[in-house]
Amino acid sequence: MLTGKKILVGVTGGIAAYKLPHFVRLLKKSGAQVQVICTQSALQFVTAETLSVVSENPTLVHFFDEKTGMWNHHVELGLWADAFIIAPCGSNTLAKMVHGECDNLLLTTYLSARCPVFIAPAMDLDMYQQPAVTENLATLAKRGVTIIDAEEGQLASGLIGKGRMAEPETLFSTLENFFAPPNTHFKGKNILVTAGPTFEAIDPVRFIGNQSSGKMGISLVEQLISLGANVTLVLGPSHVDVPQNCKLMRVTSAQEMMDACSSVFPNMDGLIMTAAVADYKPKDYHSFKIKKNEDDMVIELVKNPDILKTLSLNKKENQFCVGFALETNNIEEYAKKKLNEKNLDAIVLNTVSNQTGFQSNTNQVKIFGKNNQSLETAIQSKEEIAVIILETLNSWIFE
Ligand code: C5P
Repeated sequence: MLTGKKILVGVTGGIAAYKLPHFVRLLKKSGAQVQVICTQSALQFVTAETLSVVSENPTLVHFFDEKTGMWNHHVELGLWADAFIIAPCGSNTLAKMVHGECDNLLLTTYLSARCPVFIAPAMDLDMYQQPAVTENLATLAKRGVTIIDAEEGQLASGLIGKGRMAEPETLFSTLENFFAPPNTHFKGKNILVTAGPTFEAIDPVRFIGNQSSGKMGISLVEQLISLGANVTLVLGPSHVDVPQNCKLMRVTSAQEMMDACSSVFPNMDGLIMTAAVADYKPKDYHSFKIKKNEDDMVIELVKNPDILKTLSLNKKENQFCVGFALETNNIEEYAKKKLNEKNLDAIVLNTVSNQTGFQSNTNQVKIFGKNNQSLETAIQSKEEIAVIILETLNSWIFE
């Protein structure tokens, strides 16, 4: 809830501006006070009147009210706000923000604002990839502006790619998360996270593996670090960048993951097991590359240790264990069975579609707790899903 929060909404010219009345409504419904500032070109896409009605405040465009001559005091606006969000933020405004230009009320207010600033860039895909744009975004991020990344999809030009403004719901949840009471229970805790696939060697060049990228686990690691946790990451073969401030243990096979996890688990407060561990491995490892001989070939497999189950069945009272799983049917039944069998505090079930699951940047999960709690997310970025998972664990496990 954003009850009582004062939110300045800056709107620049771009087709995504048509979504702004909906965003302002979400803010108002949540109890925020909203003041909208538009650039002149924003008014080609959304009317000042609509935004005034939904924000319950006159929409500001000029330095002076054209009718009364009253000064729209940008310094006061900047001081009044608890947060300033510019959405959509086109490349022109973005560039001007970087260079400190202030030829309209929105930019002048940005320069005067002392509150946190969020921008939701929106532009066509080739513009979004322009080094000038990416460098401008990086510059603002370095200066402390939160960039609500553009999303992929159909663009007004007809092209398909990255550049769509994040949906109003995403803008809203970004602000809501920003103002949410801090998730403090992870602070100072030692958390073991596993991520990525495991590769089970057949011979020196072949292996049995899976499509897991490690992105979901690494998003959780990033979020845990930002909450002040000391994170140990046991990572299977993955190409995703790993945050520097975690203790990284790279492994390849399930047995190596088992050994790494067992060695550190006694000193941990909790385990979050996102790794897609191979259930089986070849019974025999061939130390030379297997030659192509017969038409058919049989590789005998044996079961790998269940790392999560082994650790969780022996966990101490003050340790928690959370599993991840990927199921396509009977997920509720499956979740309850797994929670029980593996002695888990919670299990997170991934869904698989072209927007979720392995390799994807977005995900949708259903979380089940040991006390019959459950929560389902929308399709969101893996970073946002990580925030939701940790908030949920925070309230289910510690409170
Ligand atoms: O039993 P299932 O494979 O569906 O359970 C998934 C959970 O168990 C995941 O958290 C996964 O990391 C963990 N797991 C494990 N060791 C295995 C197989 C899965 O720790 N051998």
